[in-house]
Amino acid sequence: MNDNLSMKKIIFLGLLACMSASSLSAKGLSATTLKEALSGKFLIGTAINDEQASGEDSLSVKVITQQFNSITAENCMKSEVIQPREGVFDFTQADRFVDFGMKNNMYIHGHTLVWHSQAPAWFFVDDQGNDVSRDVLIERMKNHIFTLVGRYKGKVKSWDVVNEAIMDDGSWRQSKFYTIIGEDYIRLAFEFAREADPDAVLTYNDYSMANEGRRNSVVKMIQDLREQGVKIDEIGMQGHMSMSFPSVDEFEKSLLAFAGCGVKVAVSELDLTILPSPQPGVNSAEVSLNYEYQKQMNPYPDGLPDSVATAWTNRYNDFFRLFLKHSDKISRVTLWGVTDNQSWRNNWPMYGRTDYPLLFDRNYQPKVIVNQIIDIAGRAGDEQ
Ligand code: GLA
Repeated sequence: MNDNLSMKKIIFLGLLACMSASSLSAKGLSATTLKEALSGKFLIGTAINDEQASGEDSLSVKVITQQFNSITAENCMKSEVIQPREGVFDFTQADRFVDFGMKNNMYIHGHTLVWHSQAPAWFFVDDQGNDVSRDVLIERMKNHIFTLVGRYKGKVKSWDVVNEAIMDDGSWRQSKFYTIIGEDYIRLAFEFAREADPDAVLTYNDYSMANEGRRNSVVKMIQDLREQGVKIDEIGMQGHMSMSFPSVDEFEKSLLAFAGCGVKVAVSELDLTILPSPQPGVNSAEVSLNYEYQKQMNPYPDGLPDSVATAWTNRYNDFFRLFLKHSDKISRVTLWGVTDNQSWRNNWPMYGRTDYPLLFDRNYQPKVIVNQIIDIAGRAGDEQ
């Protein structure tokens, strides 16, 4: 009898302890960083550059290691950097990037194996400068994929196998890969990557994925490949956003359409520009866009007025609430850079502007949105 009573008491006290521990973490009271707050929901990552991977930019490194648990190669794995001449590979920066991730126990995402941009000219031409044959380009693609994926097998957990193959209206991008090989280049790229590392998560990555045309074509791509026995594991929705594009609803539609095909979704290159578009109505992250500098297109060189900063924060908040709502479908959310001063957005699509697209400011300090994300992640825990 006595034994029974004390056993009940122990169970009761144990339950109390569990309840107070879970309500603490559920309210996010114990979470002070992004990666703590989002743990169990999705990975939170950032693209990193060579100054960060090498440790030279120690202020950024502090933010990266405190706040993020996943990294993406911003430039060092692009083909112009890693294979500047045929058969001559330069792994200096990519090795540093991978070592940084391994040392800090981070999830490492490789970006990108097959992309028309930031590719060396030799990739597509022969000695005379003429386009190579289909067979030669397939062989070059295969060698490139095998060499990279093979070198980092087991360390790089996922790869953007193909980047940006579809246009806004859903048609095929007329890249050299497409015009020389045909649409089969997608299948071949995924087959080569799978063979090189059967355990890696293989991703198709693109921008403006909220556009209906791109959404439908990507869904068709996943299904067509599956019919041919080839699996895309993950879709990367880049997420280079502006204050007017995309709408949360359209983004959600695409997220659900991709997840409905049985693949994971990564928000792979998130940033939110506050600057006006030089060509209103064109909602694109097409890297080749380049407009001449105009002062009126650079309205905030010295900081954001409060009302503008608040609107920006609210929009990020809306998207993070969406990501948390669908956290079971999302593998990772990756910011395209750490602090505002390092973002490509300052120079694209117009060189020399001052933008504020990221979660950390020019003094390496977290913005208001960081605390909001930590807070809503905690409350999302309460609701589950
Ligand atoms: C695209 C690419 C990235 C990067 C950004 C802009 O989204 O996928 O590698 O080049 O453009 O910097």
